[in-house]
Amino acid sequence: MKLIEAIIRPEKLEPLKDAFLEAKVNGMNIRQILGCGNQHGWIAHNRGSTVMMNMIPKIEIKIVVADDKVEETVKVIMDICRTGEIGDGKIFIKPVDECIRIRTGERGDIAL
Ligand SMILES: Nc1ncnc2c1ncn2[C@@H]1O[C@H](COP(=O)(O)OP(=O)(O)OP(=O)(O)O)[C@@H](O)[C@H]1O
Ligand SMILES: [Mg+2]
Repeated sequence: MKLIEAIIRPEKLEPLKDAFLEAKVNGMNIRQILGCGNQHGWIAHNRGSTVMMNMIPKIEIKIVVADDKVEETVKVIMDICRTGEIGDGKIFIKPVDECIRIRTGERGDIAL
């Protein structure tokens, strides 16, 4: 199992949810976050001084999927969220040791 953490543009959330539904990607958590990447957010100039590291609103999506579903899920995110402009976001993938469905006690991929 892997945790896919995707940081995307807020306007991509609705189309991405539709695409996940179609791809049968089910459970997920979504948060509104503020962040910056290589460009340090936006740069403000105020009375001759330059203010860096301004944060830009983004959406963070966390999904745990079976190992054999990782590439398909990443492709859905890439297809929907890539505009080619700076600030398209980032995807992080981390290992997950275990998943337990509380209702049934099932463990592993079947519990996802
Ligand atoms: N190294 C990082 N660690 C954690 N979060 C990051 C990192 N880089 C980017 N992010 C998050 O992703 C969001 C979007 O990043 P962004 O797409 O601007 O990355 P980038 O590396 O600057 O790429 P680009 O040059 O295409 O803009 C940031 O606002 C931040 O929330
Ligand atoms: Mg950037």
